[in-house]
Amino acid sequence: MKVTAKAHPNIALIKYFGKKDEKEVLPYNDSISITWDTFETRTTLETAKAFNVFLNGHVASIEDREKIKTFLTYFTNDVSHTVVSSKNNFPTAAGLASSASAFAALSVAANRYFNCNFSEKNLEAITRKGSGSAIRSLYGGVNRFNRNGYVTRIDASLEEYRLLVVLISDHAKAVSSRKAMKHVVETSPLHKAFIDTANEDSDALEKALLSKDFHTVGRLSEKSALSLHGSMLAANPPIHYLSDAAFRVMDEIVKLRRENREVYFTMDAGPNIKVLTTKKDVRLVANHLKAQGFNVLPALKPSKEGAHIL
Ligand code: PMV
Repeated sequence: MKVTAKAHPNIALIKYFGKKDEKEVLPYNDSISITWDTFETRTTLETAKAFNVFLNGHVASIEDREKIKTFLTYFTNDVSHTVVSSKNNFPTAAGLASSASAFAALSVAANRYFNCNFSEKNLEAITRKGSGSAIRSLYGGVNRFNRNGYVTRIDASLEEYRLLVVLISDHAKAVSSRKAMKHVVETSPLHKAFIDTANEDSDALEKALLSKDFHTVGRLSEKSALSLHGSMLAANPPIHYLSDAAFRVMDEIVKLRRENREVYFTMDAGPNIKVLTTKKDVRLVANHLKAQGFNVLPALKPSKEGAHIL
């Protein structure tokens, strides 16, 4: 018996950060993301003599193995003959949403492999327990992860959207987003401000996406990312993922905007910068950043494809 599923990562424009219910993974605030093509996780479940987990071709750490084993108990009470192999075609744990595509692919694969036939909503409730952001990679396009723990799909036209990833480091981050989230909730006086802003801005972002108001989409995305990193800096002790190079990329983006280019930045719990731009401006923006010495990956397009069995 062998089942493989594939999922793409999503990048949040309004960020999720912090759980009001740790067990159920219910977020304090709504978040909204776009699912992107090219980057993908492929996860295979197959029958073998003993349980094992391989991540990107290597035996997983005990911590990752246990995490995946616990996650699989939502689908079965016997994992003893299952081997999980998961591969990303992009850097893992570097703030490029690898846990989102990984848990979305694992959920869909396990649902089929263990013959669960869970409904979409049941699968959402399970997937978010692997990684909150993974719930948004179950589907393509624009997805809103609501405070009630479920997804609303937003039918916006994304033809014009492009995403550039500026790779500042492809090393796994020192502090996982799970740990950072808990620490920020517990110690940052700015976390409440982050939540309040995110909830208000989610409605505004949804409207802007639907009315093709790219400027407002970009402006709200930057605001959410900066507010997230501000709340991390205000934690005790502070958490900072962004290096000098990251701030230099942000400066270049602001400069390009002064030259009337449609370009905005967003950052997650990692050192890399994601650049939101348009079909019209993407080439110029990529060339400009490359000319400044930055490592810019090929442009991504929004993907309509949700997590699915291959
Ligand atoms: O779902 P997690 O634990 O990978 O947390 C994701 C948190 C951010 O990437 C920083 C924001 C988001 O909404 O994706």
